[in-house]
Amino acid sequence: MTQHQIQSLTLTRPDDWHLHLRDGAMLQAVLPETARDFGRAIIMPNLVPPVVTGAQAAAYRDRILAALPEGMVFEPLMTLYLTEDTDPADVAAAHASGLVKAVKLYPAGATTNSSSGVSNFDNVRPVLEKMAEIGLPLCTHGEVTDHDIDIFDREAVFIDRVLDPIRRATPGLRVVMEHITTKNAADYVASQDQDLGATITTHHLIINRNHILVGGIKPHYYCLPVAKREEHRLALRAAATSGDARYFLGTDSAPHVDAAKESGCGCAGCFTATNTMPLLAHVFEEEGKLENLEKFASQNGPAFYRLPENPDQITLVKSESATQFPAKIASDDGPVTLFDPGYPIYWSVA
Ligand code: DOR
Ligand code: ZN
Repeated sequence: MTQHQIQSLTLTRPDDWHLHLRDGAMLQAVLPETARDFGRAIIMPNLVPPVVTGAQAAAYRDRILAALPEGMVFEPLMTLYLTEDTDPADVAAAHASGLVKAVKLYPAGATTNSSSGVSNFDNVRPVLEKMAEIGLPLCTHGEVTDHDIDIFDREAVFIDRVLDPIRRATPGLRVVMEHITTKNAADYVASQDQDLGATITTHHLIINRNHILVGGIKPHYYCLPVAKREEHRLALRAAATSGDARYFLGTDSAPHVDAAKESGCGCAGCFTATNTMPLLAHVFEEEGKLENLEKFASQNGPAFYRLPENPDQITLVKSESATQFPAKIASDDGPVTLFDPGYPIYWSVA
């Protein structure tokens, strides 16, 4: 059977290794969109105020579970937001209790709610050393924030100036380069050992920077790191569909209400929780690599995080007519626009 004849694909239930759920009314609105298809997700800690301590992560986890609709099964995998005041002992205790699965590094000012992040990387050395010792992964928002560095170059410069020096100085530190957007990042991951992994979003496999800017500015395609040139999108597609264990799905699904996106100073973030799996099936089919979708979405992530794969499965089906996704998800804070790939998708989750 050729790939184009495959009409149905059953795979181990996927996980999302990078997700923004927010809090309050937004959490209530978006959580079911993820829990419907995904077993677990690494939950980003960039709330206002951020989730810095183990106690704050425990309380946030309780709010997530309380927002989960009855009958849905979902495990939030909690993270701590790294600040220059983070206490290594608190991190170690939160990890030892099983609560926290990663620590998130935001360079201060790099993106949404990152003002409490790190400016001087020397000040977090004791935390990083503790993490290397206990095997707790560091998730990185890999962009420098220097004003003289072009926004399209900020990821590549981060690798040279920040990431590679941190990894050399901290042997054994396990790092996930989150939401990689460049060939530079994909190549760097490929050149390193198994202590380095990378998440790739759904939208960065679909859009390049032209989609944001040609024919009028498209605020719902604006995210950080911003989508790059086509050659980078193609490199990400090759990496994601390769089956290589170091690349796995992290949607970075990041809901903002329309009023915050469609603004004179629009927020960064694409909301993809609802349609990610059908979009990925489309992308992997286009690349002739449907057989590797399960590795990317369901197997490589648990292997990196040293967790078991989900015990159950989902089935993706392809039909003759295009799948109708909602244009927006309603929340009590306002509507959230769903990422639109710009072409019809024939896959859906059964
Ligand atoms: O586009 C993004 N949105 N990138 C990030 O790094 C943060 C996220 C958010 O929290 O909205
Ligand atoms: Zn994110």
